[in-house]
Amino acid sequence: MASTHLGAAFARAFGAPSPSPVHVVRAPGRVNLIGEHIDYCGLPVFPMAIRRSVRIAFHPRSDRETHLVNHDPRFAPSAFAVNESIPPAPAGDWGNYARAAAQALAQRFPDLRGVNALVDSDLPIAAGLSSSSALLVAMALAIMHANGVTVASLELMELLGRGERYVGTAGGGMDQAIILGARAGCASRIDFHPLRLTPTAVPADWQFIVAWSLVHAEKSGAARQAYNERTRQCDELLEVAEGGATLSGVLSRRFRHVVTEGTRVRQAEAAMAAQDLATFGQLLDASHQSLRDDYEVSRPELDRLVELAREAGAAGARLTGAGFGGSIVVLCRAEHAPEIMAALGERFYAPRGAAGDVARHVFTAEPSAGAEVLTPGASPE
Ligand code: GLA
Repeated sequence: MASTHLGAAFARAFGAPSPSPVHVVRAPGRVNLIGEHIDYCGLPVFPMAIRRSVRIAFHPRSDRETHLVNHDPRFAPSAFAVNESIPPAPAGDWGNYARAAAQALAQRFPDLRGVNALVDSDLPIAAGLSSSSALLVAMALAIMHANGVTVASLELMELLGRGERYVGTAGGGMDQAIILGARAGCASRIDFHPLRLTPTAVPADWQFIVAWSLVHAEKSGAARQAYNERTRQCDELLEVAEGGATLSGVLSRRFRHVVTEGTRVRQAEAAMAAQDLATFGQLLDASHQSLRDDYEVSRPELDRLVELAREAGAAGARLTGAGFGGSIVVLCRAEHAPEIMAALGERFYAPRGAAGDVARHVFTAEPSAGAEVLTPGASPE
């Protein structure tokens, strides 16, 4: 929805604000190109932000209350007071990502006022594209803007990375960092401890495609337990390795994924800088295999999509995000994108009765800029 329509929807939900205009904040989703399930081990990852985004039209209130209305009627309105310890809504409630942002900021700044906020998104939900972190980042920027407070970019990434644990997922810091720090036209290597972002231009004739597996992976729902189990296993790995003992069974496979995936990130970054599509594609394939066999976060639907994309001429493909459902990311030469997307439509979506929705489930992912508050009246991309 364009900013002007968002402003009109805001006025319908909350009445026309005065005296100042409604502001709009945009926070993009992200697709992780490579470096999966290693951010919480402190190893570098290589994502990019995409055009699809969460947009929030907001207006400051004079009290601490925050009232949220979602343009999507599946999500009921939500309200809370901004303070250092905000009681959560039941697990899985979308409003908890807004609470997480508000609480993290309230712990940093005393006496913040709240906002009225109209939330809209064209990001698929629970599809491995960080729609929830985009909501959290957008809310944080709205509250900061409404209160005239600022936080340095890297500090904000860390603050919100920790803040998101409010929803009960022990996530790494990748999502908040790329959503805030992405540069248009680039993917970014994110290093942790200390946090920093290093962009690499995505070659003009490369095309990334995202395809949803038709399986929801709710980060604050069913996938949470499986995700948190992986982060615990990584803690265990480090303890065993530090104690000098030998890893066996499941832990040795988890370890092999973490180590090989870390190496693949460096190799992939170099391949992109050298515009070496074939090598980047092979690294995507190897990453998928490792996530499937060693880290065990894939699903038959993801494996099938990856296989079909390769058969249709992709340079490589792999699951992206936490897995357990969600989406795959595919790399190809730009001119091959239409035939690969058509092949996925015919061979994956049509047999599953989803032929009519292919345009929603499969889309080209363009490397986009990070989150920003848009000037009132400006028309964003
Ligand atoms: C989720 C988390 C990220 C990262 C990925 C897996 O998206 O939020 O921090 O761990 O899973 O790479």
